[in-house]
Amino acid sequence: MADRRRHLLAISDLSRVDAERILDTARALERSLDREVKKLPTLRGRLVVNLFYESSTRTLSSFDLAAKRLSADTMALRASGSSVDKGESLRDTALTLGAYDPDVIVVRHPHIGAANLVAASTDAHVVNAGDGKHQHPTQALLDLYTMREAVGGLETLHVAVVGDVLHSRVARSLIEALALVGAEVTLVGPPTLIPPGIEQLGCGVAYEIDAIGNADVVYVLRMQQERMLPGAAFVPSLREYAALYGITPERVRAGQVVMHPGPMNRGVEIDPRVADSEAALVTTQVRAGLVVRMAVLYDLLTAGPVHLAGELEVA
Ligand code: CP
Repeated sequence: MADRRRHLLAISDLSRVDAERILDTARALERSLDREVKKLPTLRGRLVVNLFYESSTRTLSSFDLAAKRLSADTMALRASGSSVDKGESLRDTALTLGAYDPDVIVVRHPHIGAANLVAASTDAHVVNAGDGKHQHPTQALLDLYTMREAVGGLETLHVAVVGDVLHSRVARSLIEALALVGAEVTLVGPPTLIPPGIEQLGCGVAYEIDAIGNADVVYVLRMQQERMLPGAAFVPSLREYAALYGITPERVRAGQVVMHPGPMNRGVEIDPRVADSEAALVTTQVRAGLVVRMAVLYDLLTAGPVHLAGELEVA
């Protein structure tokens, strides 16, 4: 990771070797999930703070559980109900939490660069859990993990990313992560939701839904209405979007898997019959989120996978 492996702020902080090491660590940690006693002593005495300025179900719960499974202390601060409501700035909030000497601060914020600001304001390792429409690197890592375990070799994979790329930090991180490991990526959606020039990240672009036919993985993005400016019309209507780009059983061919970062808008970007089908890996992604976030915390705070092997044997 960049800055001597101190932070995970963006996929660009990782080399391919870093990403593969984290995925390998996650695989080793997954074995602990099948035990009766699931806790490992690895991060005993460490403190992980979750600082969330935007709502979250999966990311917050999995970071909290990941830290607890590694025996770290955890503290969660949601902006709503905190002194942020009284106007306290992000920097002052970071300085305040930094006074408790946290080892890691996991931060989600609606503004791009918020995690970088926290990293510049504290001595803690900082993990970006989503900053505006910029980056969500641990989502991309858990998606790589899910694809690698469910489908196989990442470098021969073709992934179609479908929908609202324009407002999606998940898409940006995933495109970069897939490019890092040598996978092929095609973005599919209406021209209004595909940012011009995004091919520079190393992906192809198609505007017709038929383009998903060649992919091994159909990765469905949520329509992010909360990030669309009031009054801006990116699609004529959600109904029309669903008709043109919604992932229905008829559009999924045999052998393809379907992924979605959640939360899903059932009936908009994904048909409930697909969401609940054998092809869908949505809950597999959630489970991967736990072990990948354990692996990220482990990677930031310990010396490497050699020690992990010993702990898994002993615990
Ligand atoms: N995928 C994802 O980030 O989900 P949450 O917003 O529930 O954390």
